[in-house]
Amino acid sequence: VKNKPNLALLASGFGSNLQVILDEVSKGNLDATVRVVLSDKQNSQSLVRAKKAGVEAVHASPKQFESREKYDAHLVALLKERDIDWVVLAGFMRILSPVFVRAFQQRIVNIHPALLPKYPGTQAIERAFEAREKEIGVTVHYVDEGVDTGPIILQEKILISEGETLDEVTRKVHELEHRIYPEALRRVIGPF
Ligand code: GRF
Repeated sequence: VKNKPNLALLASGFGSNLQVILDEVSKGNLDATVRVVLSDKQNSQSLVRAKKAGVEAVHASPKQFESREKYDAHLVALLKERDIDWVVLAGFMRILSPVFVRAFQQRIVNIHPALLPKYPGTQAIERAFEAREKEIGVTVHYVDEGVDTGPIILQEKILISEGETLDEVTRKVHELEHRIYPEALRRVIGPF
């Protein structure tokens, strides 16, 4: 019998959010087991981070599959084999099809660098900055069948001051992400 939930972390890129989650788990600040890190990109830094943390790192390329649904079914099988309870998206740059979402109903969490429902999709920070928004933020939410539309778990704002550059704003957004993602996960995963 397990006494902690099994997490799968899905990432495509640099994996700074993934790193924070790995660190929080290893420090005992998030009561869960990271069972696998899965990436659709072979050269993702997240796979390196997983190996360093002693976590299984799996690259699953969508190229070998003829449709999104078939690829997603492959991912679901992979995760079910590992008895995954929660799927944590950390910069996973693919839209999950209903095949995936239904297999882990209410058990998929994502982080998005905007004050949803504003600025769903890619390049959210840049778009908010270019629109001269006075506030920006981060949202952690459940994943449903839409793009960045699921129920919000935690959202926090930051103000953009006059004269701040896009780089400065981007850095602040990432710092906020790293602070609130573990907090949001503690809330949803809770005592097992
Ligand atoms: C983050 O900004 C996250 O909100 C978005 O993708 C980015 C991933 O960054 N979904 P990293 O790979 O965690 O550094």
